Amino acid sequence: MRRWRTLLAVLAAVVTAATMSPNPAAAANDPVVPFVVGGTRAAQGEFPWMVRLSMGCGGALYSPTLVLTAAHCVSRTGTNSSITATLGVVDLQSSSRVTRRSNYVYRAPGYNGSGDDWAFIRLASPVTGVATLPIATSTAYDSGTFTVAGWGANREGGSQQRYLLKATVPFVSDATCNSSSMYGGEVIAAEEICAGYTAGGVDTCQGDSGGPMFRQGASGWIQVGIVSWGDGCARPNKPGVYTQVSYFSSAIRSAATSLGG
Ligand code: ARG
Repeated sequence: MRRWRTLLAVLAAVVTAATMSPNPAAAANDPVVPFVVGGTRAAQGEFPWMVRLSMGCGGALYSPTLVLTAAHCVSRTGTNSSITATLGVVDLQSSSRVTRRSNYVYRAPGYNGSGDDWAFIRLASPVTGVATLPIATSTAYDSGTFTVAGWGANREGGSQQRYLLKATVPFVSDATCNSSSMYGGEVIAAEEICAGYTAGGVDTCQGDSGGPMFRQGASGWIQVGIVSWGDGCARPNKPGVYTQVSYFSSAIRSAATSLGG
């Protein structure tokens, strides 16, 4: 009897944890499970350029052979055939997934653990028939509402996901993000862009790193950020911090050219 009660208590706790969302609004819309953190499942084909990388990061298809990701997801610039990119599916176990081996890694020059958090992974052979995600080349789209997606943890300390999750997060200004109640000056204003709710509840998390943050531009989706860091996940007053793609767009473009496009 005691044993059953214990088992029931454990089950109840697990069910509660699985259905609880730190964001009350998300919980209301989301009777089943919380995702990314506080998001929902992406539809097949909704974000075709999303890439899962075997070291446990995300990425975005920039060209048929190049995946844009975070510098902190890779070791160093040079020949590298150790990474597998999975794409074309929301379900990583799907038999229709496309996989490619890397043949080269380009890490942002000057990356030393803070700032400059971008890198390219070159695929050994081009991916055909998969849309790419254009990058922002000016600050025109560095505000508003952004979409984030990834296979990372659906809560702080949670496990990696089989299905691609998505969420929307609002822009947070550098001044707000660097205020004493948030990151107190830790954010590199020129190079990084913050997004999230003051109340928390919706965010990217571990394993989403390197994946894109994007929004609608003049003609479709445009990448404005790369998942970089945050204090925990979805905590109040701790927005996600993203590499500001517009700031690095010239460097990204010339690196892409040097890597063969
Ligand atoms: N650095 C993390 C990774 O490697 C991503 C963290 C994003 N955190 C956040 N609170 N937005 O996957």
